[in-house]
Amino acid sequence: MIEFKNVSKLYDNNVKALSEVNISIESGEFVFLVGPSGAGKSTFIKMLIKETEPTVGEIVVAGKKLNTVTRKQIPYYRRKIGMVFQDFRLIPTLNVYENVAFAMRVVEAQPKEIRKRVPMVLSLVGLSHKYKMFPNELSGGEQQRVALARAIVNNPSVLICDEPTGNLDPETANEIMELLEDINRAGTTILMATHAKDIVNNMKKRVIAIEKGSIARDTARGMYEDEN
Ligand SMILES: Nc1ncnc2c1ncn2[C@@H]1O[C@H](COP(=O)(O)OP(=O)(O)OP(=O)(O)O)[C@@H](O)[C@H]1O
Ligand SMILES: [Mg+2]
Repeated sequence: MIEFKNVSKLYDNNVKALSEVNISIESGEFVFLVGPSGAGKSTFIKMLIKETEPTVGEIVVAGKKLNTVTRKQIPYYRRKIGMVFQDFRLIPTLNVYENVAFAMRVVEAQPKEIRKRVPMVLSLVGLSHKYKMFPNELSGGEQQRVALARAIVNNPSVLICDEPTGNLDPETANEIMELLEDINRAGTTILMATHAKDIVNNMKKRVIAIEKGSIARDTARGMYEDEN
């Protein structure tokens, strides 16, 4: 589902953010990406969503070699991958319903399909009753649930999350994690970069640890830190 083959990333300022990374994530997995600040987690994720390119190496997502995806094709490629960020990134001038519907409009979904699908995902994240509210009228947890609804509305095979609970209190963060587990159970592959040790340790999923741009550990049912 996700493959990094000998991937390195050197930014323009000569910072080597990733160094010879080889990783293979199977369809249906739930994987945490952990590591200290500056380790390269966001760089890893930005390359996956084609926000930036590797300097060396190859990335394949859902059978697609990312170096063959043209600028014009990027929105269509991203349709296959849902994305969730720490800062929600909702459109402030659109209400909840429209924020989610917008993700379908950009990929030219049929209006009929949009009217069917948006209420369905809003119900899944427990926000049916707030569909007319605007982002600034919602709590952080609610905003993140809208962002999740938007991320899954096009039925992505992969969901990529960069610190999705970073701005949430622990209880709200746990609610988001439960939703992510539901989404994963329904078949979506999930990759989540995080600092949240408690969450990682509770979930007992595969943990890939990056340190200084290299894979330091890759453990099934792992912990945030090495046990030694
Ligand atoms: N656009 C950029 N240009 C130059 N250097 C960058 C850029 N983005 C990140 N870096 C550098 O690359 C390294 C990895 O950064 P990255 O954002 O991937 O870390 P991270 O693991 O996500 O950290 P955090 O946990 O703080 O979010 C850091 O040294 C950072 O300063
Ligand atoms: Mg980061």
